[in-house]
Amino acid sequence: MAESGSLFHHLECRGCGRTVDPARPVGTCPGCGHTLLAAYALDRLDGRRWLADLPSREASLWRYRELLPVGRTGAVLSLGEGFTPILPIGPIPEAPGILVSVKDDGGLPTGSFKARGMAVAVSRAKELGLSDLYVPSAGNAGIALAAYAARGGLHSRIYLPESTPAPARDACALYGAEVIGVPGTIREAGTVARTREADRGSFDMSTLREPYRVEGKKTMGLEIFEQSQPGPMPDAVLYPTGGGTGLVGMAKAFRELAELGLLERPPRLYAVQPEGCAPVVRALAEGADRVTTWEEPRTVAPGLLVPSPFASERVIESVRSTGGGGMTVTDREILSAMRALGHRHGISASPEAAAPYAALPKLLRRGDVKPGERVLLYNTGTGLAFSVDALERSLRD
Ligand SMILES: Cc1ncc(COP(=O)(O)O)c(C=O)c1O
Ligand SMILES: [Zn+2]
Repeated sequence: MAESGSLFHHLECRGCGRTVDPARPVGTCPGCGHTLLAAYALDRLDGRRWLADLPSREASLWRYRELLPVGRTGAVLSLGEGFTPILPIGPIPEAPGILVSVKDDGGLPTGSFKARGMAVAVSRAKELGLSDLYVPSAGNAGIALAAYAARGGLHSRIYLPESTPAPARDACALYGAEVIGVPGTIREAGTVARTREADRGSFDMSTLREPYRVEGKKTMGLEIFEQSQPGPMPDAVLYPTGGGTGLVGMAKAFRELAELGLLERPPRLYAVQPEGCAPVVRALAEGADRVTTWEEPRTVAPGLLVPSPFASERVIESVRSTGGGGMTVTDREILSAMRALGHRHGISASPEAAAPYAALPKLLRRGDVKPGERVLLYNTGTGLAFSVDALERSLRD
């Protein structure tokens, strides 16, 4: 067993079934190019005992160290991330009868849930001896990589679409990252990044193209489970979906909890996407196993402007495995939801993070969620860097 208590054992590819030794840095499967996922020796953990021990541990995501891939405690790069509150907000007028709560990741270091994935992935990168990391990002992942790289004394380069809001660019630079602006969406940023970085010996931290960010995002599901104790889990979790890593992470958490004998039925996961860029919701509706590229993507939510998510098979499979589904929202509905969350509930949400609030009444009308159910809206990031007025004006232009 690793000194940290981690039960991390090997990496496996769900594309071709190959097993990969995790002792060296690796991106995607060397056999077929699909996403590698971490597997743990769960048979060595007594689930009930583990659950009973959790309340005595630190209030951060590292409390789940057995189910995280970092082997040495000394390798952990922490800014105090995780264990964010679940705020009950009761029924809302647009969705009568639903018991609504918000898991609020707005208070995480760097202001979004991206801190979860990067805390774990950058810690693991450092543990494996990497020193030069890059990522194409819509903003938040870049800020998080920059911060954790700074914390660990590593170099980072962030490839941002030129349309990325200035505060995100400035934040990356504040943490000492090199920032490269690229015309187009995150798709083009990814292509430019991979071409420019090809011979530099640097490491690609893109979502689902390396195995460990999803482990950090898994803690969203672990926290929802632990914080619901001793009561029941929510019936449904509504999640703003771009690359979809959060959905893959939460579904993985539920699988591992089931394997530990702690969870019988997972909450249904719902992917929420903007009408102007909804490849995952479309694939779910069509019964497809993977997405097709969304043409002419447009939305006010930068993190949801992902026309062609990598490893979409894993995202679709994650949603389906829980019996969930998808829903689209308009940009106007997103902006109204930002206002409602702020005015009514004192909660600041970015445009991405407000999308689930907008989706809830639509899911209720369609019968996907039913009166009497408990629904958790995932607030993935703070809205403090956004002006709703300016975004509304941009829609009129
Ligand atoms: C605030 C926010 N929410 C949601 C997302 C989408 O995340 P995922 O890649 O897990 O779908 C992003 C991605 O940039 C984001 O910044
Ligand atoms: Zn493979």
